[in-house]
Amino acid sequence: MELEKKAILKLESKEYELPIMIGTENERAFDIRSLRKLSGYVTFDDGYGNTAACASKITYIDGEKGILRYRGYAIEDLAKNISFLEAARLLIYGELPTPEELHEFRNSILNNVKIHTNVDHHFKGFPANSHPMAILSAMLNTLGCYYSEMATNDRQSDLEHLDVAAAHLISKVRTIAAMTYSTQEGHPFVYPKPDLPYTENFLHMMFSEPYNEFKADPAVVKALDLILLLHADHEQNCSTSTVRMVASGGANLFASVAAGVCALWGPLHGGANMAVVKMLEQIHESGDDGGNFIEDAKKGKCRLMGFGHRVYKNYDPRAKILGEAAEKVLSVLNKNDPLLNIARKLEEAALSDDYFISRKLYPNVDFYSGIILKAIGIPLNMFTVLFAIGRMPGWIANWKEIAENPESRIQRPRQIFEGHKSREFIQKD
Ligand code: SDX
Repeated sequence: MELEKKAILKLESKEYELPIMIGTENERAFDIRSLRKLSGYVTFDDGYGNTAACASKITYIDGEKGILRYRGYAIEDLAKNISFLEAARLLIYGELPTPEELHEFRNSILNNVKIHTNVDHHFKGFPANSHPMAILSAMLNTLGCYYSEMATNDRQSDLEHLDVAAAHLISKVRTIAAMTYSTQEGHPFVYPKPDLPYTENFLHMMFSEPYNEFKADPAVVKALDLILLLHADHEQNCSTSTVRMVASGGANLFASVAAGVCALWGPLHGGANMAVVKMLEQIHESGDDGGNFIEDAKKGKCRLMGFGHRVYKNYDPRAKILGEAAEKVLSVLNKNDPLLNIARKLEEAALSDDYFISRKLYPNVDFYSGIILKAIGIPLNMFTVLFAIGRMPGWIANWKEIAENPESRIQRPRQIFEGHKSREFIQKD
C-alpha cells in the first residue's frame, strides 16, 4: 500500500498530519493508527460504515457501481465460467487453479468428507427443534476437537496445517449440514459417494435414503453450485469481520469459522434469506400483491427483507444473477412458484418508489436465493446453513490473510463511555 499525501487535522490549537492510504481501486483512507497517541482523540463510527478495519487482497466491492470481484475477477465472469470449488481455491490461494491444482484440491476435499462416527453422539444430544445454525456452529468447533493437531492456537503450527484444515472444513461443512437434516427428519444419514462432485454429493447426502438414491437434476446442481459460488466471499461483512476478529486473537480456524456462523445467523445478515421467503409467504397468504407491504415498509412498520445493503447503493450483482437463475430452475423443474411473481412485483414496485430510490435500496443476494433453495427442496430453516457452506472459503481466506501477516494485531476497538462518573460505594441495606 503506497502511503501518499497527508491530511491535516486541526484540533483545538494543534494540527496533526494523518497519512493518506490509497487502495488498488483508488479508495482513500486516513491512516489514524497514531491518532490517539498524538492527539488523545479516538474516532467514533457505530456500525463501522466509515471504517476500514483492515487492508485485504481477497475481494473487492464497488457499492456505487455494483461491482464484485474475487481476487480481481468479475463475479459475472466467474459465475459463467467456473465452479464453486474453483472459486473456493481462487479465494484461498489467490489464483485460478490449473487443472492439476483443481484436481488435487478436489481430491483433498473428497478425501476429507468422512466424519468420525463418535460425532453422531453430538447430533443425538441436540433437542429435536434445534436451529441448524446453532448445530453447525457447535459442530464446526467440535471438529476442531477431532482434528486438534490443526487447532492448536499456535498460529505458526495452525498455518502449516491450513491446507488440510481448509479441506476438512469445506468438505465437512456439507456433511454436518446433511447430518443435521437427516437427524431432524429422523432418517439414517447416507454417506457421500466418492465419485460425485462437491455440490452433487451434498444433495445426495441431503436427500438420498438407504434404499432410495436421490439423483439431482443437473440444472438443480448447477443452480446450487452457483448459489455457493456467489456467497463465497464479500469483503468485511459482519460474519467475515467476526472471523477476522476471532482470528486476530490467535484462535484456530475451526473456532474462527464457528464464530462466523453465529454472526451470519442474524436476520439482518445471512438469516435474511429465510426472512425473505417468510415475508413472501406472508404476503402470499394475505392475498396482498405486495403493494400494502411496500407501504408498510415505507412507514417503518416492517422491512423489505432482501433489500438494502450497507455497501451496495446499486443493484447487488449477485441478485441479478440469482434472479435469472430462479426463473431457470423453476422452469426446468416445471414449478410455478407464486413467491417468485410476488418477488418480481415487489422489486418492480420498490425500484420505482422514491422511498427506496432515495435510500438506494436494491435487491441484495438474499432476495432471490431463497426461492431457488425452496425450489430445490432445501428446508427453510437450513437456508442460512447453505449460505455458510458457500461462505466457508471466504472465511478461510480471511483467516489465512490474518495468520500470514506478521504485523496483524489483536482487534480491540475503543469506545466512548457514557456511563456513571466515579461514585462512592455505599452498601445498600
Ligand atoms: C447480507 O455486508 C455484506 O456484505 C452482507 C452480505 C454478504 O454477502 O455478506 O451481502 C449478505 O447480509 C445482505 C443483507 C441481507 N439483509 C437484509 O436483506 C435485511 C434487510 N436489509 C436491511 O435491514 C438493511 O438494508 C441492511 C441491514 C442490509 C443494511 O442496513 P444499514 O446499512 O445499517 O442501513 P440502515 O438500516 O441504516 O437503513 C438506512 C435507511 C433507513 O431509513 P431512514 O432511517 O433513512 O428513514 O434505509 C431504510 C432504513 O429504515 N432501510 C429499509 C431497508 N433497509 C434499509 N427500509 C425498508 N426495507 C429495508 N430492507
